[in-house]
Amino acid sequence: MNSAPDSAEITTAEKASSTGGPSGTAGSGPSGTAPTSLAAEAARRRTFAVISHPDAGKSTLTEALALHAKVISEAGAVHGKAGRKSTVSDWMEMEKARGISVSSTALQFNYHAEGTPEDQINVVNLVDTPGHSDFSEDTYRVLTAVDAAVMLIDAAKGLEPQTLKLFQVCRHRGIPVITVINKWDRPGRTPLELLDEIDERIGLTPTPLFWPVGIAGDFRGLLRRGDDGVAEEYIRFTRTAGGAKIAPEVRMTPDEASAQEGSEWATAAEESELLSATGQDHDQELFLAGQTSPVIFASAMLNFGVRQILDTLIALAPAPGARKDVAEGAREVTDPFSAVVFKVQAGMDAAHRDRLAFMRVVSGVFERGMVVTHAQTSKPFATKYALTVFGRDRSTVENAYPGDIVGLVNANALAPGHTLFTDKKVEFPPIPSFAPEHFSVLRAESASKYKQFRRAVDQLESEGVVQILRNDIRGDASPVMAAVGPMQFEVVAARMKAEFNVEARMEPLGYALARRTDAASATELGRQRGVEVFTRTDGVLLALFSDKWRLQYIQKEMPELTLEPLVAAGDQ
Ligand code: G4P
Repeated sequence: MNSAPDSAEITTAEKASSTGGPSGTAGSGPSGTAPTSLAAEAARRRTFAVISHPDAGKSTLTEALALHAKVISEAGAVHGKAGRKSTVSDWMEMEKARGISVSSTALQFNYHAEGTPEDQINVVNLVDTPGHSDFSEDTYRVLTAVDAAVMLIDAAKGLEPQTLKLFQVCRHRGIPVITVINKWDRPGRTPLELLDEIDERIGLTPTPLFWPVGIAGDFRGLLRRGDDGVAEEYIRFTRTAGGAKIAPEVRMTPDEASAQEGSEWATAAEESELLSATGQDHDQELFLAGQTSPVIFASAMLNFGVRQILDTLIALAPAPGARKDVAEGAREVTDPFSAVVFKVQAGMDAAHRDRLAFMRVVSGVFERGMVVTHAQTSKPFATKYALTVFGRDRSTVENAYPGDIVGLVNANALAPGHTLFTDKKVEFPPIPSFAPEHFSVLRAESASKYKQFRRAVDQLESEGVVQILRNDIRGDASPVMAAVGPMQFEVVAARMKAEFNVEARMEPLGYALARRTDAASATELGRQRGVEVFTRTDGVLLALFSDKWRLQYIQKEMPELTLEPLVAAGDQ
């Protein structure tokens, strides 16, 4: 058995309580509030992810949200300038070197939204997504675990390739998206131009809730739009030193705003009304249907607009709801416990060389220690070590409710897409795997390490780090790895060395695309130049092609062969 959670370490929950903030466990409710019913626990939860192109400010916003939720008392405590890149996750040297986050974790906090009853405390689960496009398959898995997404856009750059891709993933999964235009404190484009781009390039109608007062680079505050785009209120922000604290807000009526800001206010008010003329007002039904996206302008760095983002999430994002199962039925949140595994990860932290499976609770109450059934094997699974994980912080989870994310320690049998349940059996649909576009042969440098090599390959494959392909001609000693992005191969090499003490060599294979085929077509395909047929570990036969022309030629010459496209990263 590997390391169990260590009670001596400082956890997110402990930090939270030391700053008078939320509790890490959601079950008992915030201090002073009585435990409520299962339906109410589900209803007060919001589970979301922030999606963005790298550098749009995801880490900064995560920190700003934590600051507003009082999880931290000062921005910079979690990932200040010096240490930012190592915060959200630094489980691998590779991540540190590249400043990217490969792992996904979740931050839970309690939050009281403005405009809600005094005693209403919401529970927010913020699930981290990897930023780099090579890990878009991971991101897709993470997005199966959330109910809403915040799409972060850099005001100077507008839509970037990864933003577009991620948005498509959300659309495919029917996840409502709230758009945040970040870095408004820096010179950038005009707000109307940015909205046009969202509308035109992703076909999503932007419906601003808060409109900026002051051009990009001169961010003074936000105009709150009411019905028909009429300005309801002006929220003026004041900078704090280094943006370390929540920015103080002054609320003003439109008349006061006009007196204070003059032409800047007039421009904002005029633009806001203009938006209504083109139908860019919030409509909850269209938002939930994925046709419109509420927009908020913000500066994560200065903490401007951050409270508005949280309040919008609470007000508009859907609470956890029923989830469809493979039998075309659905598991309601009030049904007995069930959860879906969306991510498996090992070696997240040098002090805990263990394997964690992250599950999202779909229904019922999770109680640590309960024995659940693993739907894929029908075997019982004990949940003694259940954690919340955020960056390097881990804390034990005693109870969890629909929408919550729980990490299970040493969950060796669990893989992304698997279902856990109690009572009435349920199995959720598997998470589709992406069409690989990069292929590489993997070999152990030393034959004496073959056993470890095999173990490593099995482990990394079952976690979904890469897909593993085999065929009789190549044999089993050097399997072929298939990935969406080449950085996945680097993860394999780095982890083989760090966790299994195996040096592995990789030789890129000259294939560029894959199609699903069948046994009847495999023989003929195997005879073709520039084509090779493999069996993936899940039994699917894949034909790899050197390029799209070869594929097109074969499809034209031999239309009787089965060649089906796989789910591609770009069209999720
Ligand atoms: P990411 O996680 O999406 O990759 O982005 P991250 O938060 O790391 O932010 C990327 C850069 O953008 C950082 O600058 C960060 O300070 C800056 N940034 C984020 N939000 C804002 C904002 O609202 N306004 C401004 N002006 N800048 C913002 P950096 O130079 O890479 O790092 P650092 O030296 O500031 O730490």
